[in-house]
Amino acid sequence: MPTTPTAEDKSAATAQERREAVTLVDHRTGKSYDLPVSNGTIRAIDLREVKTGPEDFGLMSYDPAFMNTASCRSQITFIDGDRGILRYRGYPIEQLAERSSYLEVAYLLLHGELPTKSEYDEWVHNITFHTMIHESLKKFMDGFNHDAHPMGMLIATVGAMSTFYPGARDIHSASDRTKQIHRLIAKMPTLAAFAYRHSMGMPYVYPDNDFSYTGNFLNMLFRIPSSSWKPDPVLVRALDVLFILHADHEQNCGTHVMRGIGSSHTDPYSAVAGAAAALYGPLHGGANEEVLKMLQEIGTVSRIPAFIEEVKNGKGEKRLMGFGHRVYKNFDPRATIIKRIADEVFAVTGRNPLLDVAIELERIALQDDYFIKRRLYPNVDFYSGLIYEAIGIPTAAFTVLFAIPRVSGWLAQWQEMLEDPEQKIARPRQIYTGPKERSFVPIESR
Ligand code: CMC
Repeated sequence: MPTTPTAEDKSAATAQERREAVTLVDHRTGKSYDLPVSNGTIRAIDLREVKTGPEDFGLMSYDPAFMNTASCRSQITFIDGDRGILRYRGYPIEQLAERSSYLEVAYLLLHGELPTKSEYDEWVHNITFHTMIHESLKKFMDGFNHDAHPMGMLIATVGAMSTFYPGARDIHSASDRTKQIHRLIAKMPTLAAFAYRHSMGMPYVYPDNDFSYTGNFLNMLFRIPSSSWKPDPVLVRALDVLFILHADHEQNCGTHVMRGIGSSHTDPYSAVAGAAAALYGPLHGGANEEVLKMLQEIGTVSRIPAFIEEVKNGKGEKRLMGFGHRVYKNFDPRATIIKRIADEVFAVTGRNPLLDVAIELERIALQDDYFIKRRLYPNVDFYSGLIYEAIGIPTAAFTVLFAIPRVSGWLAQWQEMLEDPEQKIARPRQIYTGPKERSFVPIESR
């Protein structure tokens, strides 16, 4: 039998609510407000109640670059930046890198659970089945200049794919969404490999479904049609691990763009093109390309101290690429795993001489007050480029190798956003700082 709460019950409930709230005192009006706290956050919309009068719009929070704003609830990826922890759906990245495969991780990100054997086989079949691209898309790629940047080509062609699959606009149908997810994960390596082959003036190599996901990618990149080239299993596995490490990273710049574009209910190909464009930037996924250029510019270990001084005196304009992270403030767990893979790859390909420059650069930077004070450590991009180079991938294509696996993360986040009843079209507010109203002046009177 439900009982009527007593005054004592009510006051206990209020005390409990108070414990889960912060009190904000508005000194403009003398009023105070209890703002509920949940998961360590207040709801920004609750601030609207804080007003100086009925005409006042209400308080807003100002957070350029989203330094302290959670834009969603997510069950996909967990990061603890201070302790260097990264987990996909609860599984530590170290275990996944050791024991899983990229396609299994992609399934995990998208479905929330590791697949059973039959689910995995079906998933791999569905991805493998969709690796071919439309012949017209191939012709579209032929239109690029020979020196077109592979990321520019990838962004354009993945966006163009939306025109080949008009059904992709039906984002409310779960089965249609699944079809586009299969296609996107399957076709990204083909687009990337074709972009590379185009830049080399070499004939495209069609997907070979007898290979694994990364084996097929290496085959499309490097096989000379007249030879019976087979990818080295150590390199295939190394690339697979790199793909696992790059698959998702919660609300980073590219993922934020994916969710933002997706929130207007556009198709996933267009949203992926936008997310890839965000990734292209040198402060984000483009950093792996910049790291290699930087190591080449430094050239020898003896020139490192002078380079470090330039970075320190550059007032933020010159950066040590591959260092620093918005979230990781002690170490990036992905960088630790990548350093280990580098040894395995170099055992096959021979040691990249720039590795010595990278190791010494890291050693010197980690002892330098400038980097210690700002908590700057090597990130995922610091060593990955050296591995890509050793595998034979040209510098300009490095970011493409980041984009291929990140597609699974983008799509998982996109699905989660679409299924989240709290999400709406993304539309931040602004603080207007322009001129007050003024009257138009005809051109002859200006
Ligand atoms: N080299 C030298 N100084 C740096 C660096 C760096 N790599 N990164 C940050 N700083 C300095 C920055 O100048 C600032 O100094 P001050 O306080 O004197 O103004 C301070 O550290 C804080 O930097 P911030 O720009 O406010 O930090 P942020 O969180 O906005 O930026 C970052 C994070 C990753 C964009 C930045 O660390 C950076 O530009 N790193 C180099 C590019 C890079 O490696 N990006 C890949 C990131 S990991 C993979 C990915 O996300 O795709």
